[in-house]
Amino acid sequence: MRTIVITGSASGIGAALRRRLELDGCRVVGVDLQGQEVAADLSTPTGRSAAMNKVLDLTGRSIDGLVVAAGVGPQAPQGLQVRVNYFGAVEVLDGLRPALAAGERAAAVCIASNSIGLTQLGDTTLVDEMLRGSEGVAAGLAGSIHGALVYAMTKVALTRAMRRRVQPWGDAGLRLNAVAPGPVSTPMLEAILDDEELGDAVDALPIPLGRRAEPEEIASVVAFLLRPEASFVHGSVLFADGGSDAFVRPDVV
Ligand code: NAI
Repeated sequence: MRTIVITGSASGIGAALRRRLELDGCRVVGVDLQGQEVAADLSTPTGRSAAMNKVLDLTGRSIDGLVVAAGVGPQAPQGLQVRVNYFGAVEVLDGLRPALAAGERAAAVCIASNSIGLTQLGDTTLVDEMLRGSEGVAAGLAGSIHGALVYAMTKVALTRAMRRRVQPWGDAGLRLNAVAPGPVSTPMLEAILDDEELGDAVDALPIPLGRRAEPEEIASVVAFLLRPEASFVHGSVLFADGGSDAFVRPDVV
């Protein structure tokens, strides 16, 4: 039985993935603020360490898959976005890598966002500070930047961190990829739609398939990337966004 660790498994995409993987016969170890096997706050270094120690205890230091889905939306305080969406993902990826190496044909997936391509970033100092690992500096800097831009930057930094790790992860026999969803009907999206400015921006987004995604549709993409049949997919960003990125940036290849 494959053991898969999912952060953010209590809600939305993470919860749909949990259901999907359990139906496929996997054992899931969920990490979230509450209600899962591991209760931890991934916004702090101590919370991340506690989460990883508990995961290692529960899994005997051997896991076959890891999905970092825990996140907060663009309406959350900017510093919190930096701490959860970037550092709460990257520290868990790095910290659990040895346990993945002990697993069977293991792989990890980060949940990015199609905002990585749809947002004009301008000054990328915040992205650079995240990639440098300067959590306090980045969280402070984010406070003066619009929340939607910070959100996109946390996902750009996460995606770049993923791409920068392809060689060491490949050397360890591990695959690492990202999924970039468009709007998905989850509690996070509901909160965004309740915000007038952010909601209008979501409504204005062209989606060639003409609808938003259900969390199960993103879960099935992630499940594919975790499976051994995706054995040569490594360092990819898989857009699952109903065609928005291709529509807006058709020639970015
Ligand atoms: P959600 O709000 O339904 O679920 C997010 C989960 O992360 C929650 O269970 C929450 O408790 C957990 N979480 C938040 N802060 C945490 C912390 N400090 N420590 C531990 N757990 C924490 O959101 P959704 O939509 O399922 O989002 C999942 C991922 O997908 C996020 O990374 C989000 O940025 C990304 N995403 C979502 C999109 C959408 O339209 N819903 C679009 C693109 C990306």
